[in-house]
Amino acid sequence: MPALVLGRIASTVICASLWLAYIATPTLAVPVRRAPVLPQDDAFYTPPTGYESTAPGTILRTRVVPNKLAAFSAFPQNMANAWQILYRTTDALGNAEATVTTVMEPHNPDRTKLLSYQVAEDSAYQGCAPSYVLQAGAGVNDAASQAELLLMDAALDRGWYVSTPDYEGPKSAFTAGIQAGQATLDSIRAVLQSTNVTNVSSNATVAMWGYSGGALASGWAAELQPTYAPDLKIAGAAIGGTPGDLNATLYEVNKGMFCGLIPAGIMGLCQQYPDLNEFVLANLIPEKKADFLKANSQCLDADTTQYANQDMFSYFTNSSVLQSPIAVKVLNENKMGKYVPKIPLHMYHSLNDEMVPFGPTQALVNQYCSQGVNIEFVKDELSEHIILAITGAADAIIWLTDRFNGVPVKPGCTSRTTLSSVLDPGALPVFGVVIFSLLGDLLGKPIGPQSIAK
Ligand SMILES: *[C@@H]1O[C@H](CO)[C@@H](O)[C@H](O)[C@H]1NC(C)=O
Ligand SMILES: *[C@@H]1O[C@H](CO)[C@@H](O)[C@H](O)[C@H]1NC(C)=O
Ligand SMILES: *[C@@H]1O[C@H](CO)[C@@H](O)[C@H](O)[C@H]1NC(C)=O
Ligand SMILES: *[C@@H]1O[C@H](CO)[C@@H](O)[C@H](O)[C@H]1NC(C)=O
Ligand SMILES: *[C@@H]1O[C@H](CO)[C@@H](O)[C@H](O)[C@H]1NC(C)=O
Repeated sequence: MPALVLGRIASTVICASLWLAYIATPTLAVPVRRAPVLPQDDAFYTPPTGYESTAPGTILRTRVVPNKLAAFSAFPQNMANAWQILYRTTDALGNAEATVTTVMEPHNPDRTKLLSYQVAEDSAYQGCAPSYVLQAGAGVNDAASQAELLLMDAALDRGWYVSTPDYEGPKSAFTAGIQAGQATLDSIRAVLQSTNVTNVSSNATVAMWGYSGGALASGWAAELQPTYAPDLKIAGAAIGGTPGDLNATLYEVNKGMFCGLIPAGIMGLCQQYPDLNEFVLANLIPEKKADFLKANSQCLDADTTQYANQDMFSYFTNSSVLQSPIAVKVLNENKMGKYVPKIPLHMYHSLNDEMVPFGPTQALVNQYCSQGVNIEFVKDELSEHIILAITGAADAIIWLTDRFNGVPVKPGCTSRTTLSSVLDPGALPVFGVVIFSLLGDLLGKPIGPQSIAK
């Protein structure tokens, strides 16, 4: 069947390109004179005294990004400007904290369009924060999120400003949904107040995008916006591979290739919830404790390598650790679906997702739809989790473009199954332009709308 073959070829081509770029990194890497300073050692990340009394979203400090942003931290990207903004936000327990967002300006920018792109950091260590790993010289330690710079380039190539927040916050609270959602919303508030630095219009149209861990942040931001940031007008959010039910994902990945998400997810929650932390530390088997806690000081790539195919619950004196009352309480608090988004959503998910199970996402979509949320839900047959991050991007960009251009959404909820999102009407040309453009971006062409068909 040609369609099927075409979909597979398209997926394979882009994966192969990204993979080649990735393995070529050591030889093609542009030398960087000075590696960026880790966030925990960089005074820029420490908020000024008294910042707690400022309003959420207040800009505390700005600077031009110290090193150029670079795909895989090695291929510097030719954008017009990039800044970092330290801003005030609120953690999941309601405490003030400060975190950083990275704002990118393309050549020939449209200052009335701002995309908040949430990266799948998927790590419980501050040295994996996007503001750090997206800089040249940070080293390849979180290849998936470092590759996402290329998806952000696709947005910049359309003239949009892109902001990518360190939504896990200073505690690196990976999988803590309320933390992620609030930090995302406050990053948008901060960027809209940054006109005298970035030239972003203070009333720019805003949309959000994120896949996997980035969809967790974007989805939570969508849920929390009506109560936490009713002042923000957001045109919509594209979220794919959404881990709305964290517990389901933690069980799904156990004993598989992506086991490292379990210690990272559990330690991320521990960093936000002290009572869970106390419980987990007391219940790790003493000889295995140090290995489990490595997830506190390394990124996704090292976690993936270290823990692959293990039974992560065997690190505990009681393998039902996630069924203890304290864990159940935290997992339930971090399950999406407690609040109702008011903004339209484009959701996409692989029917064969081996990392974030499809069932809970379908249940979340059904629930949202019954609550009146506007959703376009795409179920993709040919992909699995990582492939859809790439093949689903064209549809997401088309949908986001419509939101930025004020095209009315299709009313209500629509749901469709596609063989491959790449083959959807209009997607292949966008996909082709995106791939072509990304390869150019990778090689240093100026990133901005002048070079692509709009
Ligand atoms: C931008 O405006 C803020 C608030 O008025 C001010 O504190 C800051 O110094 C200005 N920044 C620049 C680069 O002009
Ligand atoms: C800011 O945007 C305006 C309107 O597009 C433009 O005229 C101006 O040159 C921009 N300023 C900077 C500093 O880029
Ligand atoms: C944004 O503000 C400018 C000037 O303040 C105004 O001309 C424009 O209509 C506003 N745009 C929107 C979408 O509100
Ligand atoms: C293990 O934890 C589960 C869930 O909290 C509990 O029901 C069970 O009794 C525990 N088992 C032991 C041997 O303590
Ligand atoms: C998490 O998933 C496991 C396995 O499906 C199930 O036994 C457990 O009850 C779930 N816990 C929560 C809090 O949903």
